Amino acid sequence: MKQGTPGYILFIDSGMGGLSILDYFLQMHNDVNIIYYADTANFPYGTKTSEQIAGYLQKIYDGLKREYSIPLIVLACNTASVTALTRLREMVDVPVVGTVPPVKPAASITKNGKIGIIATETTVQNDYIDMLIKEFAHDKEISIQASSALVEASERRLSGDDLDRVLESELSCFKDIGIDTLVFGCTHYFFLYDQIVRFFNDAVNVVDSRDGVARRTASLMDISTRSSTPDSILFISSSDQDTVTLYEKFNRDTGMFKSILTGDYSCQSE
Ligand code: DGL
Repeated sequence: MKQGTPGYILFIDSGMGGLSILDYFLQMHNDVNIIYYADTANFPYGTKTSEQIAGYLQKIYDGLKREYSIPLIVLACNTASVTALTRLREMVDVPVVGTVPPVKPAASITKNGKIGIIATETTVQNDYIDMLIKEFAHDKEISIQASSALVEASERRLSGDDLDRVLESELSCFKDIGIDTLVFGCTHYFFLYDQIVRFFNDAVNVVDSRDGVARRTASLMDISTRSSTPDSILFISSSDQDTVTLYEKFNRDTGMFKSILTGDYSCQSE
């Protein structure tokens, strides 16, 4: 890479979820070059193994770094972070920020000690979540629920009765237990924040990871990524038309990206 080449912060998720983190980050820093890689060809990550996810991440980074200078990676995905963060850090030569289910802040705000954690199947089965609970919430009553239906509902922008049915089937168990705090252990769920808060009649605090990840990212970004005319590129690894249309609509609504590139970029460049 030539001296003076602009650097990009690379955000990665299986789909839409990490856009919630990116959006929060851009509200704090709007003078940064960014690439967001939505690995929709391999969506959902929540049913994949650690090996598979580590393989996807490595290929994405290897493919992109041939074209772009990437001094920092943000895994804007809890599933990828709990399964493959350590491995990715060993495989790449730049810092990687992970997204960890916010169990610690949840433990500090619960009043009745009843906390719900909702995450993907892969995250729920991972030892990392047990470690977080042991370390930060061992004296709390914890209920954990895996929900791929909510991931799908977020990615597909479900609404109305269809969404109500999913909320009912995925979250009723927490209502029955009487939790007062819910941990979003998956970045996708943030897109359903308002609907989920309403489902609990505003009686539950919902805790997500956006602030922690955005601040950590800001503390690690280097000067090469800063620009008065920042670039922003969205990669979508699946070129299936419905998927592309969904993301194009997102970009029309938010204006987050200057350009959108589709197809499995990481493979094409091999
Ligand atoms: N957004 C992701 C997470 O935070 C993954 C969802 C999925 O692909 O299953 O876990």
